[in-house]
Amino acid sequence: MSRLPPRVTIVDVGPRDGLQNEKSHVATGHKVELVHRLQAAGLHEIEVTSFVSPKWVPQMGDNAAVMAGLQRQAGVRYSVLVPNLKGLEAALPTQPDEIVVFGAASEAFSQRNINCGIDESIERFRPVVEGARAAGIKVRGAVSCALGCPYQGEVSLDDVERVVTLMKGIGVQHVGIADTIGVGTPRRAQAALERALKHYPLAEVSGHFHDTYGQALANIYACLELGVFTFDTSIAGLGGCPYAKGATGNVATEDVVFMLHGLGIETGLDLDALVDAGAFISGVLGRPPVSRAGKALLTKREKAAA
Ligand code: HMG
Ligand code: MG
Repeated sequence: MSRLPPRVTIVDVGPRDGLQNEKSHVATGHKVELVHRLQAAGLHEIEVTSFVSPKWVPQMGDNAAVMAGLQRQAGVRYSVLVPNLKGLEAALPTQPDEIVVFGAASEAFSQRNINCGIDESIERFRPVVEGARAAGIKVRGAVSCALGCPYQGEVSLDDVERVVTLMKGIGVQHVGIADTIGVGTPRRAQAALERALKHYPLAEVSGHFHDTYGQALANIYACLELGVFTFDTSIAGLGGCPYAKGATGNVATEDVVFMLHGLGIETGLDLDALVDAGAFISGVLGRPPVSRAGKALLTKREKAAA
């Protein structure tokens, strides 16, 4: 049996990926409180918001206000999505620790999501990466639709590797392989991450799995077998992408942490505090958490209190 990594870094993308798809506006104060609860639960990496067009994604229109409302904790990296120079100009004054440029392995998805093809997206990212790095800000790259596309269907491993190398070529420092619509299965997930690992070290490759088909935990386990130790997850399993209809949220942070702790893998996270954070934001949204572990632990608490 392969040795699994002893420690995993969780990047909670709930405030961004989780909330971006919500139709009714979530108050800025609630978004800020969610970030505060996540950092109190031990998260050191939080994706806070995105500097995209508010016409395209209205929910993220309060990006600067959310960033300004944060009481930052030492040792926490606050990241934001940036699609172009306009986004970078708006993001820089808010002092993110990391920016995320987001491309796709599928031409059709790139067009729908960011209104340009893959090659053009790289040209848009180039000055963004340069500007961010000149300002001392780390740059992560997300490769959407690495395991399948809602518009074109199959996406080849060569397509994934091509975008990875294009991102490397413009100075992107970390690459996240994303299953936007949650169709990937474990061996396929491994194969996609292996392509990224040909170009980036283990510490700079992560997995981002939406859980639409219930495969995300299995995919993460398969990536752990490769030694990958960084994963994006979303508190309470919130989210989806507005340009991938029907796709559900990222795998829930609580579920991943439950699995990792069960495997004896350290996360530095307090599962009870995560469950509270998940219950908080689910309450704001008026529905129960999607997280299975979150729901189970809340039920257990209720029974213990009765
Ligand atoms: P565009 O229309 O091609 O841009 O959009 P443009 O440069 O032609 O500008 C058009 C208008 O947008 C102008 O305003 C610009 O000022 C404005 P107007 O003159 O019409 O009033 N604009 C902006 N405003 C604010 N911030 C900006 C910005 N840029 C232009 N940065 C653009 C291109 C990328 C902006 C647009 O397509 C967009 O905002 N798309 C949103 C994409 C998005 O947020 N998708 C969800 C996040 S990605 C995701 O969820 C996947 C991920 O989780 C991984 C996975 O699961 O796959 C990361
Ligand atoms: Mg996503």
